Amino acid sequence: MSTEFQSSWLGSLSRAAVRATDGLYSYSPQFKLAMQVIERPHYAWCMTRAAELGRALGHKRISAIEFGVAGGNGLAFMCDYAKEVKRMTGVEVVCYGFDTGEGMPAPEGIVDLPYWFAAQQYRMNVEDLRKRIPDGHLVLGNIRDRIGDFLDEHAPPPIGAIFNDTDYWSSTRESFRLFDQAATRPEHFLPRQFMYFDDIMGSEIEMYGPHNGQLKAIEDYNAAQGDVKIHRNQNLLKNTEYSWRWQIYYAHLFRHPDYETYIGGARQEALEGALKLKQ
Ligand SMILES: C[S@@+](CC[C@H](N)C(=O)[O-])C[C@H]1O[C@@H](n2cnc3c(N)ncnc32)[C@H](O)[C@@H]1O
Repeated sequence: MSTEFQSSWLGSLSRAAVRATDGLYSYSPQFKLAMQVIERPHYAWCMTRAAELGRALGHKRISAIEFGVAGGNGLAFMCDYAKEVKRMTGVEVVCYGFDTGEGMPAPEGIVDLPYWFAAQQYRMNVEDLRKRIPDGHLVLGNIRDRIGDFLDEHAPPPIGAIFNDTDYWSSTRESFRLFDQAATRPEHFLPRQFMYFDDIMGSEIEMYGPHNGQLKAIEDYNAAQGDVKIHRNQNLLKNTEYSWRWQIYYAHLFRHPDYETYIGGARQEALEGALKLKQ
């Protein structure tokens, strides 16, 4: 489905028609993803693409992580959508969510946008959420304290999709420590990651930019080391009216032993077919 079509009035009308008749026809997840009628298309897109990359590299299971869970709507969507991804790709997606469980920690300086975010916002009802996501895994506590032991404690299948909704520069920066072990423990990572950053578009009140919040965290991380680089995708940005497409980033784990593994060849046709779906 072309972005020109999706952005046109006919695209809007078609989406409304698909939503209204979904109960009648049970449209396939591929079709709904292509038509943009999925509740969190950014999550769906990243999970599906990560599963396809995992499959191309011979994995039957991958992981998806949400940093910043709050009430859990995102994590609950991930756990539900993992079933669709399994149907579409044959790859199981194990879902993890990091959160204090007690709302936002205190901002750590002006780069954390203290004029917009405050301690204890977005509190979680842990018990209710655990019931909602029987297949998901909550990692509770400050990311700073939990990220270092995550691989040992959870032994996740290769991580391939990461959603970051932690709002702060400091929390986003801490989340990138996940990649510290990408070269030494590559069995827990795909060599390239599909990422989404929630807090980089905002409004004229937030005034997100390269000098605060998540965008600064990405810039600082890239400047500080050379083993992993994170950049905004290029391929989704053509003629799009969907802001989520500007919020998808890719991470290259250059020192991952599978980074150079060729995934074209016989698989090229299938991958190119899949590429068309996202446009
Ligand atoms: C905007 S909310 C997340 C909303 C959620 N993703 C959704 O879609 O409903 C931000 C969350 O990030 C969490 N958070 C921010 N910094 C954190 C940190 N350093 N460690 C753990 N959790 C953090 C807060 O507890 C808060 O629940």
